[in-house]
Amino acid sequence: MTTHKTQVAIIGSGPSGLLLGQLLTLAGIENIVIDRVSKDYILSRVRAGVLEEGTVEMLDKAAIGERIHKEGMLHSGFSYAFSGRMERINLRDLIGKNVMVYGQTEVTQDLMDAREKSGAPSIYEVDEAHPVDFDGQKPYVSFKKDGVGHRIDCDFIAGCDGYHGPSRMSVPATAIQTFEKEYPFGWLGVLADVPPVRHEIIYANHSRGFGMCSMRSTTRSRYYIQCAHDDHVDNWSDDEFWDELRRRLPQEVADDVTTGPSFEKSIAPLRSFVAEPMRFNKLFLAGDAAHIVPPTGAKGLNLAVSDVYYLYEGLLEYYREKSTAGIDDYSQKALARVWKAVRFSWWLTHCMHLFPSTTEFDRKIQEAELDHLAKSVAAQTAVAENYVGLPF
Ligand code: FAD
Ligand code: DHB
Repeated sequence: MTTHKTQVAIIGSGPSGLLLGQLLTLAGIENIVIDRVSKDYILSRVRAGVLEEGTVEMLDKAAIGERIHKEGMLHSGFSYAFSGRMERINLRDLIGKNVMVYGQTEVTQDLMDAREKSGAPSIYEVDEAHPVDFDGQKPYVSFKKDGVGHRIDCDFIAGCDGYHGPSRMSVPATAIQTFEKEYPFGWLGVLADVPPVRHEIIYANHSRGFGMCSMRSTTRSRYYIQCAHDDHVDNWSDDEFWDELRRRLPQEVADDVTTGPSFEKSIAPLRSFVAEPMRFNKLFLAGDAAHIVPPTGAKGLNLAVSDVYYLYEGLLEYYREKSTAGIDDYSQKALARVWKAVRFSWWLTHCMHLFPSTTEFDRKIQEAELDHLAKSVAAQTAVAENYVGLPF
C-alpha cells in the first residue's frame, strides 16, 4: 500500500477536477488529481463548445485564458430556424454580453498543460477509486495503480468524476435524493474540417427532428442532428448525415453547407439529472457527478465551472480564514444556479425537438413559442439572459 497525503483529493480529471485543482494550486492549497483513464483518452472525448462569459472569467482567474482569448470565437448572438424561417437572438444588444466558442477539449488541454507546468501531482489510469470515510474525521481516497493499492489521506474529497463516477455512488441512498428526466432521443454529432455554414450557431426546429450548426474554428465545423436514443453511429455514413442535416435546415442555409469527410462521429444521450445535496460532510460533488443537462443550450460545462467557483471560494475561506461558512453554503448556492440551467435546457430541448409523442397540436405550440420569441423583445431578453449564463 502506497500512502499519499494532501489537502484536497480530486477524483476526476475532466474540466471540473482540473479547474478546481488549478485554482487550489494557485492559492497554495495542495491537491492530487486522479483519473480512471489516460490524458490522451480524456482529450479524445469531443464534447461542449460554448463558454459563458463567467466561465471565461474563471478560466482567466485560473491563469489559463491566454489561448482562449487568442483562438476562441466571440459570438454576439445565435440563430434559430423554424418553419423555413431564420431568426436571431442578439445577445450583445439584449444583455450586453457575448459567448465564446472554444471546445471543451481545448479547455481541458490548457488546464492539463498548466497543471503539468505547476508540478501539481496527477495520477492517471487508476482502478477502483473510492472516497472513503468522508463522514468521519479522516477521509481518504483509495485506488489501485498497476495492481498496487494506494490511498490519499486528505482534509476533503472533491468528486469531479462525472455521471458514472464512484463519488455519488458512494453516498448512502438515504442521504441523497435524485431527480431525473430522460429524453427519448440522442444527438448524433460530427466534426469535419470544412468551413462552418454561418459564422454563428444555428439551432433548427424541423418536422424531421432537431438539427444544429456549430463550429470549432473558421475551418472546423461541428454539426448535430437529433437521432433515435438507440441509434448507432454505424447506421450513418457521412453522406447520410449531410443529407439529413440539410433537410432540417432552411433552404438558403442548406444550400451553403460545405460537406466533407467527418473525423469524429458520436451519439450523446439526452438527460436531465440532479442529485441533492452536493455535499456530504468531507465529500463534495461538482459538475456532471452531481447533475446532467441535455446539451441544448450548452450548459453542462458551464455549470461544472460555476460549481467549482462556489467550491473553490468555500475551500479558500476554510484554509485562509478557518471558516466553514463557504463550504457549508456550497450545496445550496450551487444547486440554486444548477436548477435554473436545468430549467433552461429542458425548455429549449422541448422547443426544438420532435418527441415520439409530439402531435400536430404540439408542433403548433412550438411554432407559436418560436414566433413569439421572434416578435417579443421581453422573451428574447429572457432567453439571452439564460444563454449567456446567469451570474454566479
Ligand atoms: P467529465 O468531463 O465527465 O469528467 C469526469 C472525469 O472523471 C473523467 O475524466 C472520467 O474519466 C473521470 N472518472 C470517471 N469515473 C472515474 C473513476 N472510477 N475513477 C477515477 N476517475 C473517474 N455539454 C455541453 O455544454 N455541450 C455539449 O455539446 C456537450 N456534449 C456532451 C457529450 C457527451 C457524450 C457527454 C458525456 C457530455 C457532453 N456535454 C456537453 C456535457 C459536458 O461535456 C460536461 O458537462 C462536462 O464534461 C462536465 O465536466 P466534469 O469535469 O464535471 O465531468
Ligand atoms: C455546441 C454544443 C451545444 O450543446 C450547444 O448548445 C451549442 C454548441 C457545440 O458543441 O459546439
